[in-house]
Amino acid sequence: MAILEKHKVIEKNATLLLVFSFLVVTIGGIVEIAPLFYLQNTIEKVEGMRPYTPLELKGRDIYIREGCYTCHSQMIRPMRDEVERYGHYSLAAESMYDHPFQWGSKRTGPDLARVGGRYSDEWHIDHLVHPQAVVPESIMPSYAFLLDRKIDPSNIQDRVRTDALVGVPYDEAMVTEARADFMAQADPDADASGLEERYPGAQQRNFDRQPGVTEMDALIAYLQVLGTMVDFSTFEPDPKR
Ligand code: HEC
Repeated sequence: MAILEKHKVIEKNATLLLVFSFLVVTIGGIVEIAPLFYLQNTIEKVEGMRPYTPLELKGRDIYIREGCYTCHSQMIRPMRDEVERYGHYSLAAESMYDHPFQWGSKRTGPDLARVGGRYSDEWHIDHLVHPQAVVPESIMPSYAFLLDRKIDPSNIQDRVRTDALVGVPYDEAMVTEARADFMAQADPDADASGLEERYPGAQQRNFDRQPGVTEMDALIAYLQVLGTMVDFSTFEPDPKR
């Protein structure tokens, strides 16, 4: 056929092939990328999402340090079996303040995207200290040492500032008060009005039931907030956005 005869010319001339390939990739790239510049945003805004408190943020660091993500995912897919087991499917907005996000694909243990509020703090302490005491057939390792490790709060301000640097909307007050907010959240006797104002709905209590702020406090504060920021009794997805 005539058109295939013409195609032969390109197949035999490497430079010409390169030029045409480049053209095709350029057009394809523009078609995919250009619309993104005209969208207001690529993540649907959802009411209730706020940045992590300094204590939750520290707990998240411990979650990552201990490699919890090697056995647990944090993304509920929109499929019936997942939604019935874990709750509403995950929204993009729910991980917009996560750097890096913890979606994962490995589920040796259950998904944790909505584990917040599902168990009491005592349950989490017992489970993290000795998983088999709560779930006899569990293969999760013990993290009892977290109870003995006090957190040095001296770098918590820098920690919050670092996330602000990559786009998490921590304002100046959140950075300067980071250390106070960090201490107040784990101390039920502290004045938490500032914490509540900066992080609406932040849970304040002695998460690990012992004095001082330990890594157990931070990790449980983090686990207890997972998936609880968006109120799904009032949430309605907007297909137009
Ligand atoms: C070797 C794999 C493994 C690692 C690592 C691991 N887990 Fe687990 N986890 C499991 C398994 C399996 C279960 C289910 C049995 C159970 O509840 O212990 C589980 C259950 C849980 C549950 C209860 C979830 C639910 O909905 O019932 C929580 C919470 C949890 N893990 C948190 C953590 C945290 C936090 C870390 C890191 C400090 C961690 N896990 C590390 C395997 C793991």
